[in-house]
Amino acid sequence: MRHFTSVHDIGNLDVALKEAFELKKNVFQYDAFGKNKTLLAIFFDSSLRTRLSTQKAALNLGMNAIVLDVNQGAWKLETGYGVIMDGDKPEHILEAIPVMGSYCDIIGVRSFARFENKQDDYEEKILNQFIKYSGKPVFSMEAATRHPLQSFADLITIEEYRKTDRPKIVMTWAPHPRSLPQAVPNSFAEWINATDYELVITHPKGYELDEKFTGKAKIEYNQNKAFEGADFIYAKNWAAYTDPNYGQILSRDRAWTVDSRKMALTNNAYFMHCLPVRRNMIVADEVIDSPQSIVIPEAANRVISAQVVLKRLLTDNY
Ligand code: CP
Repeated sequence: MRHFTSVHDIGNLDVALKEAFELKKNVFQYDAFGKNKTLLAIFFDSSLRTRLSTQKAALNLGMNAIVLDVNQGAWKLETGYGVIMDGDKPEHILEAIPVMGSYCDIIGVRSFARFENKQDDYEEKILNQFIKYSGKPVFSMEAATRHPLQSFADLITIEEYRKTDRPKIVMTWAPHPRSLPQAVPNSFAEWINATDYELVITHPKGYELDEKFTGKAKIEYNQNKAFEGADFIYAKNWAAYTDPNYGQILSRDRAWTVDSRKMALTNNAYFMHCLPVRRNMIVADEVIDSPQSIVIPEAANRVISAQVVLKRLLTDNY
């Protein structure tokens, strides 16, 4: 694996999951693996879990870890080509990226969709510039269209909790006061579609995602119907994908909030969310505080997914 940006880079999922569970038995078993190797984790956007879990994964492998918050202390970066740089951005990403690459061995990048230009977002302009110009293996710590470290951790968690061979997994849209990217739902759908599990996606009309990600999933506009018999409920908000509403909020309908009445329709489903979560918007307190909520073990598995990915990047590139 040269870079890690999606499920397509991880290869056989059963092998990757086996590796994750083997690693989970003792996360320090490869503590000399990354000796003298440096991770540079670059954040264009805020983070709690990704920032901490990725550093922890690197430290577990014996790597050094440097974190750069681009918007706090670094020069503001111009990303457009051919721009006359007479504004407030004194450095171009075309110099900054190779410089950053010269200080490290592996680069993690977090850069969300900007909702300014759909094509730029869906072409993953920022992430791909790191791949092109850094000269180093690059992995996504959530890009404009995908969040593969999250989805890998989600799948590890589903494997740990599933009670049937082919669980019914329901990804539901839920309301949020701000406009959020489609990266988490796109990626979750893509990873679950790489298994043979049943995936149902439920959302209000107008919130259809790119079919490239939703693939064989069933789209059900009736949330109650979608929840019937579910083994896992994966809640997430996202802004509209389809034109002309790309990036817009079309609904704040709290009838879509996941509450105990809806959870009662399921097969005693586990509740999942990537976090951070807006309580009583996305999910009612009574659900996230219930024994069926597995959001904390899900977040803890972020260390495992990051460690498998870093270990593979080290193995295949050094
Ligand atoms: N789930 C997730 O990526 O969390 P952060 O945004 O806090 O990193």
